[in-house]
Amino acid sequence: MDKKCIAPSLLAADFGNLQRDIEMVNRSDADWFHIDIMDGVFVPNISFGMPVLKAITAHATKTIDVHLMIVDPDRYIKTFAQLGANNLTVHYEACTHLHRTLQAIKDEGMAAGVAINPHTNISLLEDTINDIDLVLIMSVNPGFGGQSFIENTYDKIKALKALINRKGAHTLIEIDGGVTSENAKPLIDAGADVLVAGSFIFKSDDPSKTITELKELVG
Ligand code: DX5
Ligand code: ZN
Repeated sequence: MDKKCIAPSLLAADFGNLQRDIEMVNRSDADWFHIDIMDGVFVPNISFGMPVLKAITAHATKTIDVHLMIVDPDRYIKTFAQLGANNLTVHYEACTHLHRTLQAIKDEGMAAGVAINPHTNISLLEDTINDIDLVLIMSVNPGFGGQSFIENTYDKIKALKALINRKGAHTLIEIDGGVTSENAKPLIDAGADVLVAGSFIFKSDDPSKTITELKELVG
């Protein structure tokens, strides 16, 4: 992908003014909506579920990028397709039969993503990389917004890029957690295609302007 993407994470939005924040993203230079679904089991936090996602997709006009931080995600693949997800990302650590899960996601017409925790080695994707549309590298431990970026992420991006090239895959590399204007460009230079940013955008004085700044940085 030549054009690099910015994906604001709605986890950091003002849920009391969710429609306002969605419309801001619609009008902004952002490319995707990043939606974090947490179940309180896979991660030590609960975010929101189907009714809220339904309300989001009713207003959002850009790609809906759903990041599932839940155990046994296979149970809900069809539901997320019906709710309007375009990309559905499951965690490597939550899937016993990852290959089957990826096929099920694609069978529902969605792009299939795999997220990996900071401790999960890229080499574990060796046998599935050609079936994966996007790999989401967690650059913080999943569960909360506003955490500090883990520097080892750069080595993971480079290892993933090398694997993708070696296997002739067409997988996008998405980075999630602690993204700011400081690390945006270096992440792209290391090989990233999509940057998720939550707090850095929504806690800024002018979120729309911050999105534009990030977009300009990543070219
Ligand atoms: C964390 C989520 C992230 C989170 C990123 O588990 O997957 O998408 O919203 O938030 P920031 O950008 O604040 O680190
Ligand atoms: Zn996320």
